[in-house]
Amino acid sequence: MEAPICVIGTGYVGMACTIGFAELGWSVNGYDIAPDRIERLARGICPYREHGIESLLAKHLAAGRVHFFPSLRDAVHQSQIIIVAVGTPAREDGSADVSALYAAMHALADVDFGDRRPTIVVRSTVPPGTSNLLDEIAGSWADLLYAPEFLREGSAVYDFMNPDRIVVGCTAPDDAVPYVRLLEALERPVVFTSRTNAELIKCASNAFLAMKISFANEVANLCSPLGADADDVLRAVGYDRRIGSEFLQPGIGFGGPCFEKDVKSIDFVASTHQTGAQLFAATLRTNEAQPKRIIALLEAEIGDLSGRHIGIWGLAFKAGTDDVRDSLALRIIHELAARGAQTTIYDPAVHIAPLPSGSRLVPDALVAASAEALMVLTEWPEFAAIDPFLIASNLETRVVIDGKNVLDAQRAAAAGLIYRGVGRVALPSEEEMELARAV
Ligand code: UDX
Repeated sequence: MEAPICVIGTGYVGMACTIGFAELGWSVNGYDIAPDRIERLARGICPYREHGIESLLAKHLAAGRVHFFPSLRDAVHQSQIIIVAVGTPAREDGSADVSALYAAMHALADVDFGDRRPTIVVRSTVPPGTSNLLDEIAGSWADLLYAPEFLREGSAVYDFMNPDRIVVGCTAPDDAVPYVRLLEALERPVVFTSRTNAELIKCASNAFLAMKISFANEVANLCSPLGADADDVLRAVGYDRRIGSEFLQPGIGFGGPCFEKDVKSIDFVASTHQTGAQLFAATLRTNEAQPKRIIALLEAEIGDLSGRHIGIWGLAFKAGTDDVRDSLALRIIHELAARGAQTTIYDPAVHIAPLPSGSRLVPDALVAASAEALMVLTEWPEFAAIDPFLIASNLETRVVIDGKNVLDAQRAAAAGLIYRGVGRVALPSEEEMELARAV
């Protein structure tokens, strides 16, 4: 039997790798420095919400293909390939904190591998140059590769199994062979390159996607004063195959644990090297401003926010997850609280979050919509299925600010709502039409 792959780190990248490799038929040992996580995982409980992951975990635990260990020594025992997927959060100055990665590497250096020379595959997102520095610790007893991941939360296992490309950074392609062999069954193009190139490929990919979203938001913001419609404009822009339609959805901006952190990190590296880069910082500035623009839309309709009661739909940083890390919905809620507004919030997946005082989470969308005005802040498709007449009957001012353009603007207006989306043409509500007809 093949020696098990060891995966260090049980966040969403580590878990997608664990389950993905098991799906491909390999044995996997999981390890994390948090023993409570390991204990729960061994019982089939995943630390985060991910579509289908718990059933796959149960399947592979039952088949004995996946094991979890509270001891690193036990987890790497016999493993020839060690995947490292620990967190690299942003520091205050925007640089990436790679201390967990160094700690993992030092812990591995203390393991006695006997006459084995393991392959260590770093998958955490890191600033370019990091792997070569880690190689100073590992180079004498292991082959060190850098293999970026491009996994989205909510569909990480699917993305693992269906990558557009497999990127492997190495000093010699031969070093990468044992790792690439694991993924052969996926039949995807493999890019062999240097470790620094591989690190930059990851940073640049995320920075580009984030820039696309900021671009879409700037175009949408321009649509409003022109009386143009962002949905039509951006859809047609995206039909150009050179541009592509993905990541052109305007909204409240990009949130989540990756984009802001990764763009800050590449911007930090670019300024360290004094390259005069502009786009990274501009991407972040646009994203910072977007939530304020969405609040301004609300203020334009209902005036001063102090003492007002606002319903909120959506708290997760995107649909399909219960993750509120760097959620712009959460930032908007804190900003509303700072301006003296109370909020009642509904999210289909989030049941706990660090909310400001005067804010409460409720388990029902219409209870949240029993307010003066409603803001939609996550693109959950189920919001679009709620009857706009029910929303209208609950909302005092009938004002709906759709920060994610998920509702049907025409249906909303027909139900009497004063509906405002991001870069969407403001349709007169049924009531406004009536008034116009009377005049
Ligand atoms: C991202 C990258 O997509 C993934 O490749 C990388 O490995 C990790 O970071 P993730 O953070 O899970 O994945 O979420 P993603 O689906 O990319 O969305 C990020 C944010 O952008 C969300 O807040 C989402 O709502 C927002 N977004 C996305 C938009 O506002 N408009 C879009 O068109 C797409």
